[in-house]
Amino acid sequence: MSNLFEPYQIRDMLVRNRFMRSATTSAYADEEGIVNETIIRHYERMSRGEVGLIIKGHLYIMDNGKAHDGMAGISNDKQIPMLRKLTDAVHKHDGHIVAQINHAGVVHQPDRAGPSKYSEDDWTAREMSTDEIEAVIEGFGDAAERAMQAGFDGVEIHGAHGYLLSQFLSRDVNKRDDKWGGSLEKRMRLALEVYDEIRGRLGNDPVLIKLNSDDFSPSGFTVEDAIQVSKALSDRGIDLIEISGGGRGRRQDLRERARHPEYSEADFAGHAIKIRKAVKPTPMALVSGFKTLSAMEKAVNEDLTDMVSLSRPFIREPGLVASMKKGQRESTCIRCDACRANFGVAMMQCLLE
Ligand SMILES: Cc1cc2nc3c(=O)[nH]c(=O)nc-3n(C[C@H](O)[C@H](O)[C@H](O)COP(=O)(O)O)c2cc1C
Repeated sequence: MSNLFEPYQIRDMLVRNRFMRSATTSAYADEEGIVNETIIRHYERMSRGEVGLIIKGHLYIMDNGKAHDGMAGISNDKQIPMLRKLTDAVHKHDGHIVAQINHAGVVHQPDRAGPSKYSEDDWTAREMSTDEIEAVIEGFGDAAERAMQAGFDGVEIHGAHGYLLSQFLSRDVNKRDDKWGGSLEKRMRLALEVYDEIRGRLGNDPVLIKLNSDDFSPSGFTVEDAIQVSKALSDRGIDLIEISGGGRGRRQDLRERARHPEYSEADFAGHAIKIRKAVKPTPMALVSGFKTLSAMEKAVNEDLTDMVSLSRPFIREPGLVASMKKGQRESTCIRCDACRANFGVAMMQCLLE
């Protein structure tokens, strides 16, 4: 018997099944970060297709935290009406939707700024001042409040993939020697203070985080670090941790260390088992690699995770969950990554015939 199609409770939010759409950005928003009808239609299709919990592609919390052209924002009130249209379109079909909120840190251009002076390829970023760090915490709080005004069911803090919070967590990127850097306890301070700020503003509404299980750099942020950060967030009352991987300095060959032979589809299953053990019963979602219904069923039935989270398969088949309920056994996404590589053209449309 599969638990995949059973509802799942996250605080007061009763999600209709265990399928989560992991945040997936498009490059279709306008210069002011306002989403358009094309984006809204894609979200409506996923909700009509019975995805339980949809995480909106990352939204920049402040104008100096934008990661790429065409990224949508939640940095000012003008962005709210179209986001409200988007959340209404999802709710119309009984789905839930959470806003992923993000600050890009050193990825933002042209004024690249992060925890410390930092270089990569042909660019260099400057160190943020303490006032700027305080402003980021405030900015996350303001963005979370706007998200609720726009009708989202909660927020997901983007703590992964080499953006600002993940930069602070990394011992390779964060070289500060004040209260924001040094020991892991200090490196995780920003993530925890962002969480506290949002919880203070949102009260009982769901607050989730997407967190790396490993940066896959030689030693920037390891699974041992991820366990400690997950524990601290769990102790504070985070409502769900979505386990991901890959930060600054990532190396493809190091990804192998996150795998587990019994769960070969899920890229980070080995790490997830360790984190799960440390934070259970805090709700968990696991992303990356899921393709077949049987692998997802096994992951949920054997309690590897509470929710299975997918991104690329929903670009190709927004109606995948409903189709699986009717008997489809696997996603037809082949992970060619054209959706990611053709930045701006194809982020929400599959290029496969
Ligand atoms: C086009 C595209 C856009 C993405 N945008 C985001 C994003 O906004 N936020 C985020 O946390 N991850 C983002 N991701 C990563 C996915 O959420 C997910 O972690 C990754 O694709 C692995 O899951 P999958 O194997 O199911 O695709 C994106 C991935 C793709 C392909």
